[in-house]
Amino acid sequence: MKVLGIETSCDECSAAIVEDGEKILSNVIATQIPFHAPWSGVVPEIASRKHTEWIYAVAKEALEKAELDVKDIDAVAVTNRPGLSGSLLVGLSFAKAFAWALNIPFIAIDHMLAHLYAPRLLPDNRPEYPFLGLLVSGGHTIICRADNFDDITVLGTTIDDAAGEAFDKVAKFYNFGYPGGKVIDDMSHNGDSGAFNFPLPSLHKGDHRYDVSYSGLKTAVINQLEMFRVKKEFTNEDIAASFQKIAVEILLRALLNAAQDTGLCTIVAGGGVAANSLLRIRLAEQKHLRCVFPPLDLCGDNGAMIAGIGYHYLVRGERSPLNTTVCARVTGFKKKYP
Ligand code: KG4
Ligand code: ZN
Repeated sequence: MKVLGIETSCDECSAAIVEDGEKILSNVIATQIPFHAPWSGVVPEIASRKHTEWIYAVAKEALEKAELDVKDIDAVAVTNRPGLSGSLLVGLSFAKAFAWALNIPFIAIDHMLAHLYAPRLLPDNRPEYPFLGLLVSGGHTIICRADNFDDITVLGTTIDDAAGEAFDKVAKFYNFGYPGGKVIDDMSHNGDSGAFNFPLPSLHKGDHRYDVSYSGLKTAVINQLEMFRVKKEFTNEDIAASFQKIAVEILLRALLNAAQDTGLCTIVAGGGVAANSLLRIRLAEQKHLRCVFPPLDLCGDNGAMIAGIGYHYLVRGERSPLNTTVCARVTGFKKKYP
């Protein structure tokens, strides 16, 4: 079954074709980064406008790259939650129209579940269930247990800012550039991570053993730099490296607690922050764990993960009605405290 996957939840306009939930025939990702860069953040109005302008060409390119005709597509999968409402609506409307015109099934997909599915698209090193999931993006930070593509138990979340949001806010404050996570990651290679001794939050006990918090670190880096300075002379790269070190340690501590308590030793990382080079290094150092990181084009937002997971709902006979709408907030990813 060849599924067309459409993803427009934020600032990537993507269409992909995946066969039988496994084989990527094409994965076209058009990024809007240059259009949002002057504002150091995603401007929702610009994002939805660009999706409207691009979606047809992006989908056409996905068909061309896969060397397929529209008639070869068996079904359409599309992100309808969570994300920017205006952006989601563009992809959803396109997908509905495509499916209706060809009289083929369509299914609406939860973007966060799709991020966890992304490593299942790897030809080798495909993780088997159950595994621990680390979902780290601009809007979410979730540590969960995955027993199937749609069977997720949330173990920990952020109690304030998302991991990517912390990177983005620090980069914005110091005018490091956009997008913040990638810029800080690159700058850190030339910085001294011991230049500042930023604090780790003391949030690792009781009900919060798998939760993370970024607001304290963000405040320390933005408002209390002097208080944590170790080196006399410092550079912007030193600030970036010192921040990144603690930002990654925060994730690692909660994740290692979860691995220890659940006994699960496969970790699957997804979302934009999963591209972080230090996070990858620190996890690779944990020899008792097997960490699966999707390649960079499957880490960020992409249509292939949507088409891939969509296939599994479709073979189960699930369909979304044509009056399906978008949902800005994530559903089913709330942590249940005892
Ligand atoms: O999953 P994603 O592409 O979009 C959503 O938020 O859904 O994630 C984007 C986030 C941004 O906050 C960006 O700064 C962060 O991922 N990011 C990174 C890196 N690349 C992207 N954060 C840390 N290190 C990176 N290399
Ligand atoms: Zn995402």
